[in-house]
Amino acid sequence: MIVGTVREIKNHEYRVGLTPESVHELAAHGHEVLVESGAGEGIGAHDALYERAGARIVPAAADIFATAEMIVKVKEPQTDERAMLRSGQILYTYLHLAPDPEQTRDLIASGATCIAYETVTDDSGGLPLLKPMSQVAGRMSIQAGATALEKANGGRGVLLGGVPGVLPAKVAVIGGGVVGFNAAQMAAGLGADVTILDRDPQALERLGMYFEARAKTRFSNRANLAECVAEADLVIGAVLIPGAAAPKLVTSEMLGTMKKGAVLVDVAIDQGGCFETSHATTHAAPTYIVDGIVHYCVANMPGAVARTSTYALNNVTLPHALRIADLGWQEAMRRDPHLLAGLNVWDGKVTYQAVAEDLGLPYTPAREALA
Ligand SMILES: NC(=O)c1ccc[n+]([C@@H]2O[C@H](COP(=O)([O-])OP(=O)(O)OC[C@H]3O[C@@H](n4cnc5c(N)ncnc54)[C@H](O)[C@@H]3O)[C@@H](O)[C@H]2O)c1
Repeated sequence: MIVGTVREIKNHEYRVGLTPESVHELAAHGHEVLVESGAGEGIGAHDALYERAGARIVPAAADIFATAEMIVKVKEPQTDERAMLRSGQILYTYLHLAPDPEQTRDLIASGATCIAYETVTDDSGGLPLLKPMSQVAGRMSIQAGATALEKANGGRGVLLGGVPGVLPAKVAVIGGGVVGFNAAQMAAGLGADVTILDRDPQALERLGMYFEARAKTRFSNRANLAECVAEADLVIGAVLIPGAAAPKLVTSEMLGTMKKGAVLVDVAIDQGGCFETSHATTHAAPTYIVDGIVHYCVANMPGAVARTSTYALNNVTLPHALRIADLGWQEAMRRDPHLLAGLNVWDGKVTYQAVAEDLGLPYTPAREALA
């Protein structure tokens, strides 16, 4: 199969769909790989590295869209890219169609076979192609929080781990899923005094068994939340209610109970945020202050560590890309219902129920694409 990857053109997107190592694997399977010149610059992967891995460097994205049978990307195709998609071409990338009627309309019009990373499933009922970005954001939330706690950034001037003779900072992690687990791991590793709040007893049990004495777990209810937030130097918002906006667990009144210069990192900002005073920020100006409390609310945290994020993403996207290239998308999906769950648009039809329902469009079950 001819597989192509292009330079991401969304604002401040530095990740790339295929690393040189992924290109090497595809080439070893006998596929031809086209890479747009400069596609890997954002992660320090220059054209020469891709060439050495077996890719052919192509000067313009248009030539790749015109030739490749499968396009592997990171972000949803932008308007100019959507205009270049062809009928029958495979698009394998994050799409997030439900809130995006314009993109959905263009993908329908293109006739392309559009596979969304974010809806591919696994045996445990999880979303394995989303997980690495939650891992990155969870780990980064502690780095971002530690920086915001510095005086020059408006923080209380507290070092997360303390020093011998001085107590460490208190960190409250609200939500003990993928983001929360990774945040707690980083904070506990630095020696902070960590409490993880969740309302799922099984999650609390798992976390308790993993962390033992290195982090405390606490049931998430109003009273416990209020107490933890009031005592914390750093609060990480990491809740998720699938398919719904994040609940506003920390209200604006609760800010008044917090220590001045404490920090809130709202990782759940991409679902609207779990602090009432949160609004989305960018890496260019990641924080703002409300009532003396520093807020960090960057909606695309993994973008700041594009190299780590790209490699983490490729680790989970490449196995499916290889099977699609080796077998063709229909046979690959026949053999793997989890990959079939990723099919969002095919032959001008919406094949993912939640997207069709949210956008009021007719729904065609994905398995009809395999007939
Ligand atoms: N900002 C970013 O760059 C970025 C990157 C990745 C993920 N995220 C977001 O981070 C959030 C968390 O993602 P995840 O992968 O960890 O989800 P997850 O499903 O693995 O974990 C969410 C956890 O929240 C818990 N929860 C739900 N309601 C709660 C409540 N009232 N109190 C305490 N806990 C509660 C759930 O029980 C679950 O354990 C999501 O909104 C996700 O979209 C943001």
